[in-house]
Amino acid sequence: MVVKLFINGYGNIGRRIALAFTKDKDIHLIGVAKYTCDSKTREAIENKFNVYVSHEMTKLFKERGYTITGEIPEAIEQSDLIIDASKEGEGFNNKKNYYEPKKKSAIFQGGEERYGKHSVADIIHNSRVNYESMGGRKYVIQGSCNVSGMGRIMQPLIENFSNIKRYDVTLIRRSADLEDMREVKDSIEWDKNPHHQDDVKDFIPSANLYVESYKVPSRMMHLHQIAVRFDGKAPNKDSLLEIFQNEFGVAILNSAKGTADIRRKAIDLDFPNGDTNMVHIHQDMLRIQDDTVKISYSDDQTGMVIPENYLLMQSMIYRRPRSQAIRNTDKLFQMNKKRKILEEEFK
Ligand SMILES: NC(=O)c1ccc[n+]([C@@H]2O[C@H](COP(=O)([O-])OP(=O)(O)OC[C@H]3O[C@@H](n4cnc5c(N)ncnc54)[C@H](OP(=O)(O)O)[C@@H]3O)[C@@H](O)[C@H]2O)c1
Repeated sequence: MVVKLFINGYGNIGRRIALAFTKDKDIHLIGVAKYTCDSKTREAIENKFNVYVSHEMTKLFKERGYTITGEIPEAIEQSDLIIDASKEGEGFNNKKNYYEPKKKSAIFQGGEERYGKHSVADIIHNSRVNYESMGGRKYVIQGSCNVSGMGRIMQPLIENFSNIKRYDVTLIRRSADLEDMREVKDSIEWDKNPHHQDDVKDFIPSANLYVESYKVPSRMMHLHQIAVRFDGKAPNKDSLLEIFQNEFGVAILNSAKGTADIRRKAIDLDFPNGDTNMVHIHQDMLRIQDDTVKISYSDDQTGMVIPENYLLMQSMIYRRPRSQAIRNTDKLFQMNKKRKILEEEFK
C-alpha cells in the first residue's frame, strides 16, 4: 500500500525526513510546506519536492520566482498521513486547524506538548520500548532526540537487570544545529523543569528517573550521562557492554575525545547530512563505582529522530512487525554499516 505523505515544515527535521523517506517506493510524497520565503524553498524545489504555502504567502513566493504547487490545506486534503515537523509549539494549532477537521493522521515531533491544554497526542513513541503499541493510532508524538536516546539506553538495561533502583540523567545539550543561522550564546543555560523526565516516564512509567538538563555553546551533538544505581554491587564493564553489542542504533566507541570528533568524522565519511542516526556509548568513559554505573553517550540530535519517525510510520500505518521495520530502516539509513565504520574509526 502506497502512503500519501505530506511534511508540514521544511526545517532541520522536515528536510531530512523528506530526503530519506522519498527513497522508499511505498511512500508518495505529496509535498512539503514552507512558511518563510527563503532559499530553502529553492532547495526543496531543486530536490523535486512539491512546495505548498499558505494562502496569504502564495503571492510573495510567486513574485520571487518560486514555483509553488498549491496551498497547504490542499496538500493535507490529498494526504493519508502528515508528518508535522513545525517549529516547536505550532503542531497544536496545525492539529486543530487542519488535521482534526480533515480527519487526517499525524506524527508530531518532540517539541510538542504531551500533557496539558496544548497536548497533541496521548502517547510518545520510542521504537525500543513501545513500537508495537502504535498500530492504527491517529496522533502520536515522536520523542525528541534526547528522549529517544534515553529509551535506547535504558530499555536494554531494564530487560537485563531486575535490581535497578534509580536513574540520574544529566543531559548536556547542544545550543543549535550546524545548519542553524542563529548565534550560539556564550553561556551554560539550565532548565528548571526538563520535560524529558516526564516524556521518558510516559513510555517507561516504572523508572525511578531524575533528569537535569543543560545547554552548552556547541552545535555538534548532545552528550548524556546516565548514572544507574543498583540494589547491591553494580555489574562489570564487559557484561554491560555486551548488552549493547547488538542494539540497533547504538555504537560503542573508545577513542573519541568529544562530540565534534564524531560529527566531523560523519561529515568526512559523507554520511548523508553528516548524521550518524544513533547514540554512541563512550566505552572509555564508562565508570563502575560500587553500586553505580555511569554511562556517557553522545546523541546525534538531528539524525536520531529521522529513522525513529520512519519506524513509527511502519507501526502506525502498516502495523509491520518490529523486526521487519528494523530491517527496512537499516536498508534506508544503513545504520549497521555506519555503526561498524564508526566503531572501527574510534576503536
Ligand atoms: N533539530 C533537532 O535536532 C531536533 C531533534 C529532535 C526533534 N526536534 C523537533 O522537531 C521539530 C522541528 O525542529 P527543527 O529543528 O526542524 O526546527 P526548524 O529547523 O526551526 O524548522 C521548523 C520549520 O517549521 C516551519 N514552520 C513555521 N511555522 C509552521 C507551522 N505553523 N506549521 C508547520 N511548520 C511551520 C518553518 O518553516 P520556514 O522555514 O518556512 O519558516 C521551519 O521550516 C521541533 O518540534 C523540534 O523540537 C528537533
